[in-house]
Amino acid sequence: MIKKSGGETTQVHVQCGDQKPLQRPGPLAASRLRLVAQRLKRDVEVLHSWSLGLFRRYQDAQRDCLSEIVTAVQRAPLCHEALPRKTVALTDKEPVWFQSPSPLTPRAEAGPRWPSASTLRRCRPEGAAGPLEAGCLERSLQEMTERYQQERRERRRLHNTLVELRGSIRVHCRLRPVLPFDDEFRGPGSQNSPVSGAVAHALDDETILVECSRPGRPLINKTYTFERVYGPAESQRAVFEDVCPLLTSFLDGYDVCIMAYGQTGSGKSFTMLGPRPEQDPALPSGPHGHLGIIPRAAGEVFRLLAENPSRRPEVDVSVVEVYNNDICDLLAKDSCAVVSRAKCQVLTTTEGRKEVSGLTRESVQSAVELMTLVAAALRLRTKQATAVHADSSRSHLVITVTLTAAASSCSTADRQSDQSPPAELRGPTPRRPAPGRRPGAARTVSSVSPRTRGLGQGSQGPGGQVLSKLQLVDLAGSECVGVSGVTGSALRETSLINRSLAALADVLGALSEGRGHIPYRNSTLTHFLQDALGGDSWLLVPGTQVSSSKCR
Ligand SMILES: Nc1ncnc2c1ncn2[C@@H]1O[C@H](COP(=O)(O)OP(=O)(O)OP(=O)(O)O)[C@@H](O)[C@H]1O
Ligand SMILES: [Mg+2]
Repeated sequence: MIKKSGGETTQVHVQCGDQKPLQRPGPLAASRLRLVAQRLKRDVEVLHSWSLGLFRRYQDAQRDCLSEIVTAVQRAPLCHEALPRKTVALTDKEPVWFQSPSPLTPRAEAGPRWPSASTLRRCRPEGAAGPLEAGCLERSLQEMTERYQQERRERRRLHNTLVELRGSIRVHCRLRPVLPFDDEFRGPGSQNSPVSGAVAHALDDETILVECSRPGRPLINKTYTFERVYGPAESQRAVFEDVCPLLTSFLDGYDVCIMAYGQTGSGKSFTMLGPRPEQDPALPSGPHGHLGIIPRAAGEVFRLLAENPSRRPEVDVSVVEVYNNDICDLLAKDSCAVVSRAKCQVLTTTEGRKEVSGLTRESVQSAVELMTLVAAALRLRTKQATAVHADSSRSHLVITVTLTAAASSCSTADRQSDQSPPAELRGPTPRRPAPGRRPGAARTVSSVSPRTRGLGQGSQGPGGQVLSKLQLVDLAGSECVGVSGVTGSALRETSLINRSLAALADVLGALSEGRGHIPYRNSTLTHFLQDALGGDSWLLVPGTQVSSSKCR
């Protein structure tokens, strides 16, 4: 059961071996819960459309501002051209665009009034002075730039409100198409199955239908609902478009975790990384139609950072795999600078934050640098062919991108304005400013600033810094041993993979039910991801599902 926005709950059963379904409430409690959920859903929808309205209003205002800036800038060279020919005639009269705004103009409510294009034209009376015009235009342009920044802040505030309204844990489902090799890798268990062909279908963009059949038993159809369903024909770009808004929130100080979950061969690595990323680093420039979420996210993060270089961002990256319940640092090098796959431990800092001891964190300046590191790490990741999937990931891959930057001007104080939605509908609070990191200080775990929940209200001053974490996780797939045909050490791997995925499902179930005890420590994976899974970050799970009968 996964919590949705406004307390609504959704049954999510992922097909993974012998995983047990989550507990159901009694019929009376269930119908009462359903009523409450419906009411909350209606409230959220009203709030959502209200926020959208505001968002559009500010977008329109921003567009107007921009066009006025462009008009003013285009006029500036004309004024300068006029300089040699005109006589300077200073007057003590304030030019019309610096006069105080009319209190009734629509824009007066939100800040200083803009000079309109027609006003600017009027500002150049016959015989007016060139230098005066140039100076005025310069000041006017400065005012417009400030106003533009203000509109941008407002747009970002609304953006984060919208993201919050959609809930802090979201589960999407992607159906991968039936591929030619689906019939080649048939394990011993599947030979008795009389059925082949598609068994999972997207009914609409929120529902899938799964045909469950077992030899000798009648066919049962089951439907499952998700926040969003991607059919087999939907592109990598379509999946990324739903991830993109979370990256804006990451830059605003929120922790974000995007995790691909699903059975073996269902397309998790394809969705997260794209095809064969360890061979081609899949650099996020150029027309790469199949790029996965990770390279696209790297490109988008650096694109967004370049829009606001004054925040002096520092980005670093670490890559680990959780293999057989051990955490291995895939960027570690030994004393001869040779990659060494060092084992690490999860530690709890004095502030209660989970960190990995001695983890290598490389500073990166661009998406290309980031993806080059990821590609190198992927070459070390444990993989093995099984009867189901020739290129099966045998470990959980976690890429952590940490951003330290001057706080964006979209402060938490802005979130508290009158237009914010009610507190109970808000999601996580962005992190409090991090104490400044010494320039050039070694990027070790101990240099990470404390995680301080709920203390950020109004404390994100312009001089402060925010620290946020983006975790991109490609999980190993759940599998049925009878079908994948693994033996020996691969069998142990499979059993540990299935156990850690069951532990992950238990944690998500406990979180969604608001239980007092969340069993994070039941596996290394959940212990390591505790910060990302807790209530202080956005979690998006693009669960994947094969649409053929092979992995049923
Ligand atoms: N949407 C898709 N379109 C085309 N091919 C896909 C798609 N999704 C997955 N594939 C292909 O299906 C195969 C299995 O995908 P992938 O390796 O991503 O599975 P996986 O879920 O990571 O499996 P495992 O858990 O065993 O690692 C790959 O050859 C991949 O290229
Ligand atoms: Mg994989």
